[in-house]
Amino acid sequence: MKKQLLALVATLALAAQAADVKVVVSADQPGPVIHRNIYGQFAEHLGTGIYEGMWVGPESKIPNVRGWRKDVIGALKDLHVPLVRWPGGCFADEYHWREGIGPRAKRPVKVNYNWGGVPENNAVGTHEFFDLAEQLGAEAYVNGNLGTGSPQEMAEWLEYMTSEGNSTLAQLRRKNGRDKPFRVHYFAIGNENWGCGGNMRPEYYVDLYRHWASFLRTPANNRPIFIASGGHDARTDWTETLAKGLKGVPFDAISHHGYTLPTGKWEKKGSAVGFPEAEWISTLAHTQKVDEWVRKNTAILDQHDPAKKVGFYFDEWGSWYDPEPGTNPGFLVQRNTLRDALLAALHFHVFHANAERVKMSNVAQMVNVLQAMILTSKDKFVLTPTYHAFKLYVPFQDATSLPATVENNPVYTVDKLSMPGISVTAGRGKDGKVYVGLVNANATQATELDLQVGAGVPKAVKGQVLTAGAMDAQNELGKPAQVVPQAFEAQAVNGKLTLKLPAKSVVVVAVEG
Ligand code: AHR
Repeated sequence: MKKQLLALVATLALAAQAADVKVVVSADQPGPVIHRNIYGQFAEHLGTGIYEGMWVGPESKIPNVRGWRKDVIGALKDLHVPLVRWPGGCFADEYHWREGIGPRAKRPVKVNYNWGGVPENNAVGTHEFFDLAEQLGAEAYVNGNLGTGSPQEMAEWLEYMTSEGNSTLAQLRRKNGRDKPFRVHYFAIGNENWGCGGNMRPEYYVDLYRHWASFLRTPANNRPIFIASGGHDARTDWTETLAKGLKGVPFDAISHHGYTLPTGKWEKKGSAVGFPEAEWISTLAHTQKVDEWVRKNTAILDQHDPAKKVGFYFDEWGSWYDPEPGTNPGFLVQRNTLRDALLAALHFHVFHANAERVKMSNVAQMVNVLQAMILTSKDKFVLTPTYHAFKLYVPFQDATSLPATVENNPVYTVDKLSMPGISVTAGRGKDGKVYVGLVNANATQATELDLQVGAGVPKAVKGQVLTAGAMDAQNELGKPAQVVPQAFEAQAVNGKLTLKLPAKSVVVVAVEG
């Protein structure tokens, strides 16, 4: 009896709430285009992120195309990966490109000091990376070495990759198997130079950038977008100093980084699985701060660059947990759960909302490292919840953003921490349809909401939902997947279109009629 009463109270509470929560999409007020490169990826020489995770070598028994494993590349192709950033990360500022060209057997073996101190045999170098990008149909983002390189080394790398002429470097590229130049879409001058990239002050970096950028030459039809290495999290000093100091040299965008740690503390970040609800909410609430970080920094850019020519690229983001027990802590191996799928979707919403400046973002990282799309073990692989979140949001690539608001957004509270329960984004896809992305952050309560598009109520919506029974539901190798997208649809009844979002869910729908 008591149970029935409680159930009745819960149903009534939900019904009361349903009348209140409303999502309104302004379809007639198009905003900026959501650049497809917001869905970019990052692949660093780190742990098994490249070696084993993607690259197995042409001689491997694991089916591959010129060394890149077929299964992983095939799954990544389904995400329409628009862009890949390589070779780092911290690795980039210790990478010397000449060590990664020519016959692989003759390439020097180095130590990957940043990541586990393991041997780096340089099997993946410039040619292999561009082969990967071309197999994926993705644009190439090459991160140059400012930390331990020289302006000459950097200039020569660009010449090697892009020269059409008969210079010795262009001939060397041809001798190594590539006749026509590689298309370098993006080129960054250093990475995190406030930290692993040299512990610099922004003023010093600006001087170095001005100096080095003056010598970076490419044919006009293969000029990359030049990216300056910026700050991180809420910091704005790098953005300010770069925006002021980089006038008059090739400078097109600032790279900014920000990771989500459940506890916010690097010494004890929090576990990827088996966490309490307090860490579920602290993680998602932390992710929501990304919006504030972006807005603070882009406001500074607006002062110095009102024409909005300079991009603000969030080229490293994602969850960062304590390493998986039993693994090399330098390999940044972590499990990936439903929480990561919501975290990814919340990032997408922030980047869509700031699409005017944020024309690129890169999840860290593609395979086996941090918030990965795919986890592998030898010849096996599994698609993570993050992979499925990326797949749900494919229609937003190059969509036109549309303003969307949540009226009477329910507040989600655990202990003393609160955040908005519902997050929404909307856009008109390249196919002309209106798409709506929704996150219900509440780990325990479903939410009903009414959807309005423009002045009216659509006839129906159709799409997919990602949810699971447990907050830390995951897809593990050799076990049935726990987090896979399911069909989701709703029809208007009596002029009302009500969507029932399960607790802890991501929903993406196309509006019909
Ligand atoms: O993604 C892992 C590391 O995080 C990158 O190498 C570095 O740029 C950042 O600190």
